[in-house]
Order: sequence, then C-alpha cells, then structure tokens
Amino acid sequence: MADESFRTIIEPFRIHSVEPMRLTTRGERAAALAAAGCNLFELRAEDVLIDLLTDSGTGAMSAEQWAGVQRGNEAYAGSPSFERFRAAVTGLFPFRHVLPTHQGRAAEKILFTVTGGPGRVIPNNTHFDTTRANIEFTGAQAVDLPVPEGLQPALRHPFKGNMDVAALDRLLAERAADVPLVMLTVTNNSGGGQPVSLANIRAVREVCDRYGKPLFLDACRFAENAWFIKTGEPGYADVPVAGIVRQMATLADGMTMSAKKDPLANIGGWLALNDDSLAGQCRNLEILTEGFPTYGGLAGRDLEAIAQGLSECIDESYLRYRVRSIAYLGEALESAGVPVVVPFGGHAVFIDARALLAHLDPLQYPGQALACALYAEGGVRACEIGTVMFGLQPDGTEVPAAMDLVRLAVPRRTYTQSHLDYVIEVVTRVASRAARLPGMRIVSQPRQLRHFTARFAPLH
Ligand code: F0G
Repeated sequence: MADESFRTIIEPFRIHSVEPMRLTTRGERAAALAAAGCNLFELRAEDVLIDLLTDSGTGAMSAEQWAGVQRGNEAYAGSPSFERFRAAVTGLFPFRHVLPTHQGRAAEKILFTVTGGPGRVIPNNTHFDTTRANIEFTGAQAVDLPVPEGLQPALRHPFKGNMDVAALDRLLAERAADVPLVMLTVTNNSGGGQPVSLANIRAVREVCDRYGKPLFLDACRFAENAWFIKTGEPGYADVPVAGIVRQMATLADGMTMSAKKDPLANIGGWLALNDDSLAGQCRNLEILTEGFPTYGGLAGRDLEAIAQGLSECIDESYLRYRVRSIAYLGEALESAGVPVVVPFGGHAVFIDARALLAHLDPLQYPGQALACALYAEGGVRACEIGTVMFGLQPDGTEVPAAMDLVRLAVPRRTYTQSHLDYVIEVVTRVASRAARLPGMRIVSQPRQLRHFTARFAPLH
C-alpha cells in the first residue's frame, strides 16, 4: 500500500525499454500538416512528438504482459490462452458468454447487426463515434441522453457521465417496442471522459427492468470509472476497485469492450453477455467476421496480454497515478486560463475549443483549428471531438455538435511528467493567440466517420 502522506504521486513503475522520439522543425510540421490536408489522422507518427491523439492501444505493456506474449498458445480452437483470457474477464465481469474480438468496434458491429436495424433506437449516455456509426449503419437510430450537467464544460459535478434517467424513461414510455437494449458508456468518452456513478447505473437498471430491456455497458474505461466511484461516490472508499467493477457488471446484462483502453493491451476487445440465444446469434456472426470464438480475430498472445493487463489496470497505486497525471495536466491548463472540461476525467483533458476560439462559428470547426495549431506549434497531436466528428447527419445535413472539444488523451504508462510539462507549455502558447487562429473549411469528406479522412483548409 502506498504511503499517502507524500505529496508527489509517482509513476508506480520504472522504464524497461525506450522508444526514441523525433524532434521536428516548425517548417517540417507546417509541410506535414499541409500534406495531411489539416487532418491529424493523416500525419505520419514519426512527425509527431507527443501523441495525444488517443489513449487507445497506445499504452506501454508491462514485463509480465510481454512474458504473456511469449506464453501465447496459437491453437485455432480451445487455446489455453483463451481460457486465461476468459477467466480474467469473468473475474471482473461475470457474464456467461465472452466473445473475443479484434477490437471494441467489432463487438459493436456484431451486437448491433443482431439487435439493430431500421426503426430501432439505441439510447446511451453518449455514444462513441464507432458505436454511433455501427448503429446508424444498420439503419437504427443512436440517441444520446446525457444528464444536462454533462453538456456544460465549466460546471463541476462528480459524475457528469451519468445518463438522464428521466429522459430514458420518457423515451421508453414512447418507443419501448423499438428499443432492443440500453447502453451506458463508462467513462463517457465523448462527453469529456466523465464517470458514471453506481447510483446512476442502478437507476438506469431499474428503468430497464420496468420496460424489460437489457442493459449493456460500453466498458472501455471501467477501471478509471471505478476509481472515480471509489474516490467520489459516498460509501465506496473502502471497497476494492475489483469489487466496484463487479458491482457495475452485475447491474448489466452484457458489455462491449475495447481492450486497447483500460486493459493495457495494444489490440483486442470482447463482447460479453448473459442471454444464451442472443449469444448464439452473435457467435455465429463472430465466426463469419472475426474468427473462431476462442480467438475472435486475435492471436493467443494478444489474449494473454489482455488477461495480464486486466489484473494490472485495477491496481490502486496505478489508478491513483493515472488519474492524478490527468488532473496534473488539467489543473495546469486551467490555472493558465485555458477553458477545460471540469472535473478532469480518467484518460484525457478536454479543451473547450468553442469557448477558447469564441470568434469562430461551430461550422468553422474551432476544435479542428485548435488541434492543428497545437501540432504546428509543438508537434503535439490531439483529437477534435466536436462538429467534425459528430456534425454530419445520416441524411447529409450538418449541425453543430453539442460541444466542440479538443481531447488531449494520455496513453497509459507512456509519457512522463516532463512530457506533460512540455504539452502544458505548447497549449498555453497557442491559447495566448487563440483569438487570431483561423477557422477551417472542409475540402472533401466521406459520408460516414468523416473525421478520419476528411481534408480541410484554413479560412484565411
Ligand atoms: N467505445 C468507446 C467509449 C471508445 O472510446 C472506443 C474507442 C470504442 C468504443 C471503440 O473501440 O477503438 O477498440 O474499436 N475509442 C478510441 C478513442 C478510438 O480514441 O477514444 P475500438
């Protein structure tokens, strides 16, 4: 147990192998940005100094995870690596069926291919982009029902990721027959990385029970969510994180999961559920698109890395450091006067680009403009989570997203405090001239998930 009398919360690991970073000049970065059509997904990773595009699959694995990679058994069927994976998953999430997938969106694709379709509605606190896209791809409608507090970046509330339970009740009262399941994303990534309380999960469960609807968790960041419950929800301070996770899981009927987030793996995911008949349908689809259900699009070595990662990500000294490092970044930006979503979430600091670039209309993409400026200034790659990501409607029209945020997602166990100090310097410098940053226009875009491939140009 850590001695909590020390003020400095250290990284609870030492560095075991290193990956050099390449420093670039301002001129090189300007050229790279132009070649990428001002889309940061199009940059070469070697041209990025500090990569905060995502916390997904970008973390550092531990010595034990690498040892697991060596132990991986690559049998097509019945691999012991699958058994270790399943035991690790069900130890935290005691669902009857566990279907490994190559990543989270594959689990979503399988689940919504079976349960979605035209006329269907799937509510969530806030759908992540791939979840929304997988639902809409089937012809179903994805509805976000965050609590009103969740849409106010500057408002402090310990569980801004909560679902608006009354709104869920109203939706089900009107359209219960069209709703195959209810989802809850923990933590609420698109809503600012904000946690969901156990009280809220329980209240959502109660509404689901009244209408006979299954509840699924999108549990990518379950450990960070559980840490916020432990430290912020009355009554849980003395409950071990694993116990909190199991309470979250037992309130649900299933989950979709990306192992690239809290489970500390570079690839992987799963779909887990209790319903035998739904599981059977999902398994058939899994065989068609992912692979045999004991490997599901992964190698045995990946299953081992996930199994080991699941035991490491619930370690309390790790979670204390993890959440503290995000708050360290957030507090420094906040005290420098940068508008940020508060309180700070578990995996990222979100800058309120609509507030910082208040001279721009949301359809001039303030988040994209800010993200490009951060790269040009210091080689820091962040991600727009706003009108570029969510503004394009299935009918081809465009509306402002609820918020225009820029996410600084911190990969797990990868960057040190001095890396974050550098990021603070870059953001602060850009923020000081934010009022002069030009907006963006879209030069070309696809019809779905446009943020990955659209090309932009500055509005000079
Ligand atoms: N659900 C949430 C809440 C996510 O954040 C993500 C991915 C997914 C599902 C899909 O998982 O990538 O394994 O297919 N989020 C990443 C991000 C990409 O950057 O936030 P995946």
